[in-house]
Order: sequence, then C-alpha cells, then structure tokens
Amino acid sequence: MKKIIIMLLFISFTTTSNAITLTMFECVNHMGFYAKTDKELSEALEEIGEELEIADNDIEEEIREYIEDKYVVNPDDILVLVNKDSYLPVDYEPSDLVEAHTKCYGVNNKLRKIAADNMKDLVEAAMEESEYELILTSCYRSYGYQERLFGNYVKRSGLEKANTYSARPGESEHQTGLVADITTIKMGGLLKEEFGDTEEGIWLANNAHKYGFIIRYLKGKEDITGYQYEPWHIRYVGKEVATYIYENNITLEEYLYSKEIQDKIIEIVKMLGNVLSFNDEV
Ligand code: DAL
Ligand code: ZN
Repeated sequence: MKKIIIMLLFISFTTTSNAITLTMFECVNHMGFYAKTDKELSEALEEIGEELEIADNDIEEEIREYIEDKYVVNPDDILVLVNKDSYLPVDYEPSDLVEAHTKCYGVNNKLRKIAADNMKDLVEAAMEESEYELILTSCYRSYGYQERLFGNYVKRSGLEKANTYSARPGESEHQTGLVADITTIKMGGLLKEEFGDTEEGIWLANNAHKYGFIIRYLKGKEDITGYQYEPWHIRYVGKEVATYIYENNITLEEYLYSKEIQDKIIEIVKMLGNVLSFNDEV
C-alpha cells in the first residue's frame, strides 16, 4: 500500500521533464493499462505496483525512466516511429498543419504541409489514371481526440480487442499529421478490410509509394506493427523510403531497424578503415 501511495503522489504531481508533460492518466495509460475514471486508475496503479516489484525508494526513478524511454525524441521527423513502444507526448502538435487539399469527410481534415501536397498528387493521379475517387476520412488527430476515440472503442470492444485496431492516445500515428485514412463512395465512406480487395484499394497499395506514402499496417505483419491489417491507413515517409518499403514488402519498423543496423555496420567499417590506414602508416 505504501508503494501505491508513493506512486500516486509521484504521478499526481504533473511533472515537466525534457519538455514532456506527464499526467497521472498518461503515465498509467502508457504503462500498459487504460484508466478513464479514478476507480479504474486506482485499480491500474495497484496492478502496476504488483508488477514492478521494486523497492519504494526506487519507484519514482523507475517510472520516470520507463515513461521517458518510450517517448519519441524526433516527433517532427518525417520518419518518426510511433507505435505501442514509441509514443508522442500529450502536447505534441505539428507546427505546419494545413487543411487537406482534397475531399475529406469529418472534422479531422488537417495534414502536415508536405503530406497534404503529396496527397493531392496521389488523389489526382488516381482520378486521372483510373477515375478512382479517393476520399480522406481522418487525417491529423490530437492526443485528446484520440483519447476520446480510444475510450469509446474500449467501451465497445474491451481494452485488448480495441488496442488491435485503435491506438492508445500518444501511440497513434494520426497525431503526427503524416497520416490519412482513405475511403471511397463504394465503401460507403467506411473503413473496412474489404477496401483492400476493391479496385481503388489495390490501386492505392500499388501506387501510394510514388507519392511518398506506405500502407502502414500490412496483412501478415500484425505481430510487428501491433495492429490489424488496415488497407486504408496510409503514412507519409517520403518517396525514396516509401518505394524501398513497397518493393521489399516490409513495415516501417523493419525498415528503421535494418537502417539502424546498416548505420552501425558503416560506423564499424569506418572505424576499421581508420585502424587499417593507421597501421599502413606504421
Ligand atoms: N487505427 C490506428 C492504429 C490508429 O488508431 O492510429
Ligand atoms: Zn488510420
């Protein structure tokens, strides 16, 4: 109990560190629990206390490290990775959001400028090449909006199921402003897996990369992305990276991981090169 009280005290004080504002709900939600009411919060804290099994005086440090480790350090980067292990702070909002230049259903019609410009090219190409009308449904979503959305899905499907198709606040790529969900009149404006088998869905999967977008949640890659197949959710990463990802049928996680390894190898080769040239001189 003492442990839990200390945690409550720690988390209750909104702390600001590295420009990250942590609230008690945010801390708890990011530790793998989802709480909307004080009662749920207390229950979640109790479970966290049991899970952590650490000495009282280490709790504050442990929680701080756990939370901060998982915040992205490059939220404005076009290649920012946002997923269940890497998330955006509550107050992150891109500074260059503009209204999408093409038809969008609903209130979430903003994208970062670079994504909006390329999206316009993509939507126009679909129309010019094949007379397909691609319609955006949900682009930038704030942390607060995602919190309400996810809360509703939890009520509808339960936490575990909800988190297979909807992201916890902070963990949604929609908060980057680099994402849009795509639908068509044929789909009734809805987002359904069948979209991937429609002519428009197939065109999108085979052409999005030319405009810098990837299908972010691929079929068969659910264990890597953490989400169900979503043929409608496209993410801007730039043309070069999108083409590489498309041609190799990989996820952003796999791309970034292999890039990290490649960079390390290059670093090692350079180091060896220095050692060898030093030896040559000797
Ligand atoms: N549907 C995706 C995972 C999201 O909620 O961002
Ligand atoms: Zn989406």
